[in-house]
Amino acid sequence: MRTSTRHPSKLSIVGAGAVGTSLAYAALIRDSAKVVALYDIATKKVEAEVKDLAHGTQFTNSVVMGGDDITAVRDSSIVIITAGAKQKPGQTRLDLAATNARILSSMMPQLVEQAPEALYVLVTNPCDVLTVVAQRVSGLPTAQVLSTGTLLDTSRLRYLVAQKAQVAQPNVHSMIVGEHGDSEFPLWSSARISSVAIRDWTVAGERVFTQEVLDGLAHEAAFAAYEVIEGKGATNYAIGLAGARLVEALLSPTRSVLPVSSVLDGQYGISGIALSLPTLVSEHGIDRVLEAPMSADEVSLLHASAERIRQTAASVGF
Ligand code: LAC
Repeated sequence: MRTSTRHPSKLSIVGAGAVGTSLAYAALIRDSAKVVALYDIATKKVEAEVKDLAHGTQFTNSVVMGGDDITAVRDSSIVIITAGAKQKPGQTRLDLAATNARILSSMMPQLVEQAPEALYVLVTNPCDVLTVVAQRVSGLPTAQVLSTGTLLDTSRLRYLVAQKAQVAQPNVHSMIVGEHGDSEFPLWSSARISSVAIRDWTVAGERVFTQEVLDGLAHEAAFAAYEVIEGKGATNYAIGLAGARLVEALLSPTRSVLPVSSVLDGQYGISGIALSLPTLVSEHGIDRVLEAPMSADEVSLLHASAERIRQTAASVGF
C-alpha cells in the first residue's frame, strides 16, 4: 500500500476542456501553484493541452504535467473537477445533475485513492449538488470538499456595480450567495462601496443604486452565463480566473473570506446541502462558514435557494 503525501503546491485539474485549460492557464499566469497537472480520459486532447501549456512554462514559475492516466493527480494539494456535461443554450445548470452526478460518483473514489489529503473543488455543474455528491461518495470531511460556487457570480456583480458606481472593483464590497444558479441573490443589505452603503452612493450628486437598478444588476449577474453561452457556446475565462484565485487561498496559511459552496451544518437552519455563503478558507480547506448578517427577505431567499438544491440532490439520489 503506497503511503500518500500531500504535495505543498500541486494543483490537479480534472477535465481538459475549455474551463479546465483556462483554469490551468490562469494558474500559470498568476503563479497560483508550483505544479499544474491536467488529467482527462481524452488522450489526444489532454496530451496536446499539456504540451501547449508546457511549451510556455519558460515564462512562468511553474511546471506542467499530466495525461490520460489518473496517477497524474497523485499527492495533489488541490484537485479541481471541471469534467462533465456542459450547459447548452437555454439549459439550466440543475438540468445537468443526473449526468454529472453519475460521472462524479464513479470518478471520486479513484481520485481520492491517488490524493486522499487533497482539497476537492467542484466547478462542474450543478456545482452545489455535486459538492454534496463528492462529499457523500468520498466520505471526506466537509472541510475538504467545496465548490467555486458564487465566487464567480460575486465577481460578475462587482464588475457591474463598479461600472455603475464609476469606481475601481476593489472598492466594491458586495457578495452573491446561495445556489450557483438561477436562485442566487446579492446581499444588498450589507453591500458597500468603500465604507458607503450602496444605496447612499452617488454619481454626480445623484443616488444611482435605486431598487430597480439593484434588481437589474442582480438579474444581470445571475443570468450572465446564459448570455455568454448563447454568444460563444461556453464560459471559461472568468471561471478560470476565479478558480485560480481560490487555489491561492487554498494554498495559503492565511485565512481568506470568499463566497464558496460547502455542505452546511445548521447555518441559517440549513444542513446537509451545499450552497455559497461567506466562508473562511485556507490551506486547511473550509475553516468556518460565516453567518453574515442578512435581512429577513435575504434569509427567505436563502431558504428558497437551499430548497431548489435539496430537491435536485434528492432527484439524483443524494
Ligand atoms: C458560469 C459557469 C461556470 O457561471 O457555471 O459561467
